[in-house]
Amino acid sequence: MAMFPTKAKILHRLLQFRHTFWSSPSLGRAPCSRLVLGIETSCDDTGAAVLDETGEILGESLHSQKEVHLRTGGIIPTVARQLHSENIERVVQEALERSDTDPSRLSAVATTVKPGLGLSLGIGLEFSQRFVRQHNLPFIPIHHMEAHALTVRMLQPVAFPFLVLLVSGGHSLLAVARGVDDFLLLGHTLDEAPGDTLDKVARRLSLIKHPQCTTLSGGQAIELLAKDGDRMRFPFRTPMGQTYDCCFSFAGLRNQVNMLIMKKEAEEGIEQGTLLSCVNDIAAATQHTVASHLAKRTHRAILFCKSIGLLPSSSPTLVLSGGVASNQYIRKALTLITDTTGLRLLCPPAKFCTDNGVMIAWNGVERLREGKGILPPNVDVSYEPKARLGVDMTAEVKAAAIRLPSVRMKIPN
Ligand code: KG4
Ligand code: ZN
Repeated sequence: MAMFPTKAKILHRLLQFRHTFWSSPSLGRAPCSRLVLGIETSCDDTGAAVLDETGEILGESLHSQKEVHLRTGGIIPTVARQLHSENIERVVQEALERSDTDPSRLSAVATTVKPGLGLSLGIGLEFSQRFVRQHNLPFIPIHHMEAHALTVRMLQPVAFPFLVLLVSGGHSLLAVARGVDDFLLLGHTLDEAPGDTLDKVARRLSLIKHPQCTTLSGGQAIELLAKDGDRMRFPFRTPMGQTYDCCFSFAGLRNQVNMLIMKKEAEEGIEQGTLLSCVNDIAAATQHTVASHLAKRTHRAILFCKSIGLLPSSSPTLVLSGGVASNQYIRKALTLITDTTGLRLLCPPAKFCTDNGVMIAWNGVERLREGKGILPPNVDVSYEPKARLGVDMTAEVKAAAIRLPSVRMKIPN
């Protein structure tokens, strides 16, 4: 063995020293690290954050419109646009101030431009294009679902490829992430997203009038009430049992729940808008059916990936993210599937599952590092309310028609 360090070893030690030196908190932030400002306005959250290249969050700010939309019984796009335009300047300013960053120190601005509510996306995009032109900065347009998929890599090392299940108020999809901008889409929702279904069921049950749920989103309210409910009392049909692909459908379940609610209102002799005595059981049964549906489609996606070698044999990973991924019961349902198929399940903490500026800035960092999709400030960019993620493989998945082995969905409460 050599007694003296090789040139490579010396270089490695120097780099280690430089890394320790610049990342030491007492010495402040690495002056050589590039900084990205991320801006999110695709739905009902106005978010901004400044991240450095290592994924450290230097400053962030988030304005949520949840309370307003809860009172109006759902998101009204013109109201969402108004609130974004009232808050975006302040939110971005706060993120910059909290990170002690002057715009001249930024290396790029990353902003969600697809998919989402057109009126909401427009506010973030317009603000960003003005900002990058004013400060002569590169612009990185971001796909909202790509950002949800990559967030986990900001928190821990997760190598490509991995399987990802993204479930929120606007989306439900299964994809293989093969690279920062390289996705294979295995399944998507054919009608509504699970968060949307939970929000609508909660609204139909008037859960906002429930003393424990006045400030909770529909999904949060259902999760809370389900804890004291009997999920077996109302056995809803799990959707798409005879379709052997990885797509999702939740509209039929919502219809089943609505029919039951009407029946129970008639039995209890109460008007729509009054709380039913069996809300906990309905919440538990609805949540269980959503969880089973997500788990079954994901199980098939895992078997499909295994059948054609889309995931690595060592440490294959399922990443679960999006607002609905904060649901502990749904996480447990997916744990049953990953346990039986030998995958590890990774799920960012709730704060990073829901929409925020951090995940957009991180997506910007990932793209900046790889030099992908970085535009000069003067290029005109349009927003896209509808935009698929990656290469569509749903036909191949359907053609494979994989039958699932039976797994008892005995999900611990
Ligand atoms: O990702 P997100 O913040 O925004 C969208 O892009 O949609 O997700 C919001 C959705 C809402 O539909 C909300 O009801 C749902 O996530 N959600 C939950 C929970 N927390 C939020 N659904 C089920 N269980 C929860 N704990
Ligand atoms: Zn989202």
